[in-house]
Amino acid sequence: MSNLCLGVMDSGMGGLTVVDLLHKKYPEIKIVFLGDNANMPYGDKTKQQIMGFVKNNISFLSTFSIDGILIACNTMDSNCYQSIKDNCDIKLYPIIQPTCQKAFQISKNKKIAVLATAATVKSNAYKNSLERLDRQIEVKQINGTGLVELIEQNKNCQNLLEKYLSPLKNSDYDTLILGCTHYPLLSDKIKAILPNIQLVSSSEELVNSLHITKRDNITVCDVDYYVTANPLPFNDIASNIFGYPINAIIANRKE
Ligand code: DGL
Repeated sequence: MSNLCLGVMDSGMGGLTVVDLLHKKYPEIKIVFLGDNANMPYGDKTKQQIMGFVKNNISFLSTFSIDGILIACNTMDSNCYQSIKDNCDIKLYPIIQPTCQKAFQISKNKKIAVLATAATVKSNAYKNSLERLDRQIEVKQINGTGLVELIEQNKNCQNLLEKYLSPLKNSDYDTLILGCTHYPLLSDKIKAILPNIQLVSSSEELVNSLHITKRDNITVCDVDYYVTANPLPFNDIASNIFGYPINAIIANRKE
């Protein structure tokens, strides 16, 4: 029986938070990662632009023998998943729906905040998805503009985070969704600012949403990393953040 092979797509390092969890949980899965860092950040792009990126990402990943693609990017999911899911030849694993389910399940007072990119906030995908679970739920969406770029450059996010999270400091929101896969990289800082709020990581919930039967005698697979812009700074910063070598190479693709 051959190993399952899954594609993971994001604009950049956020996708690596998903790859990291996926590889640790299912080392037998072959992973092909694509970080479209040439077009990062997606969060300040239009729906139409994001749709174009998503199509290119899917067509690149489809050149490998993959069994499915994890949408490791809330911005792609919020802007494109509903319109592409039925016409895509390959199975797509969405991120927003399992994340909302987890937040709904753990929130006691049904007051849930979401920190996400501008394009995700604008789409209202989290708000709509949470309200589908319960119309009474109160959702506060916070636009995290600028955080992704700082994370990608390994720069300090403290001031921006304090500013964005300050409305939650003396509020009774009991749950905060990290609605961008880059943000789990800021978890410790966020916990220090909001010690009384429980965090839901979209990266974690995407991986938890996969129900793959564990097999004995597994072969451990490598991860193949691809990016669309200069891999050198990406590899340097990513290896530093994750603590193991990440050797992405440039994705050769026609656009
Ligand atoms: N990591 C992506 C997400 O989950 C977005 C990053 C970006 O703005 O490029 O939304």
